[in-house]
Amino acid sequence: MTSFIPPHERIFCALDTVDVGEAVSLADKLRGVVGGIKLGLEFFCANGADGYKRVHEMGLPIFLDLKFHDIPNTVAGAIRAVAPLAPHILTIHTQGGPEMMRRASETAREEAGKLGISPPAVVGVTILTSLDETDLDAIGVSDSVPGQVGRLAALATKCGLDGMVCSPKEIELARSVTNADFKLIVPGIRPAGAAIGDQKRVMTPIEAVNAGADVLVIGRPITQAVDPAAAAQAIATQLSL
Ligand code: C5P
Repeated sequence: MTSFIPPHERIFCALDTVDVGEAVSLADKLRGVVGGIKLGLEFFCANGADGYKRVHEMGLPIFLDLKFHDIPNTVAGAIRAVAPLAPHILTIHTQGGPEMMRRASETAREEAGKLGISPPAVVGVTILTSLDETDLDAIGVSDSVPGQVGRLAALATKCGLDGMVCSPKEIELARSVTNADFKLIVPGIRPAGAAIGDQKRVMTPIEAVNAGADVLVIGRPITQAVDPAAAAQAIATQLSL
């Protein structure tokens, strides 16, 4: 950890729903107890910018996880299109290549400058955790998963991205090939004793932060709790011990 961040600000709660009312209600309950909200492709495809704005109006920073992957010009255009929504974090696929990453990063800064707002952190997705070595082989990638994650993480840093999304088990590898300012956004987090669900390799919040995670993406342990705000607060308390 390079600087002190209030523990709750490290928590971004993943609202994996297409229901705007439910998302707004959760964002309202979580105001002040988490650092932000993650909205993904499912929510955005179902509800578009209007749904996004209703959640954003609750006052929390938004991690807009749309994982852009296209030619540089189109990704730059997509970033220009979402810039007025003022997301705090935005994802792109590093497999789009160096030019795409550079253009994405430059465009995010330029557009924010024009709008007079802070630019989003543009962070890269390397190898989806749903892919294993057999899948990589099928698409002609002969390197191992860690080899490819390390290569893409190093490239992302070189191309000006602000960070990457990585699984808890990739934190050490990612830190070894990136600089200290490069933000590691980490899903697959489970408080001690919480249901693991479909996640395979999990870490507790404090283990992940101690390993080098900057932002913890936590969904069901908060959203499915009887009292989501209390669940988030309990996680923040664990982080501050
Ligand atoms: O409910 P849970 O805490 O498992 O939610 C984790 C969130 O992080 C979900 O939105 C999931 O899609 C996302 N995610 C993940 N693993 C990745 C990348 C994203 O769990 N490798």
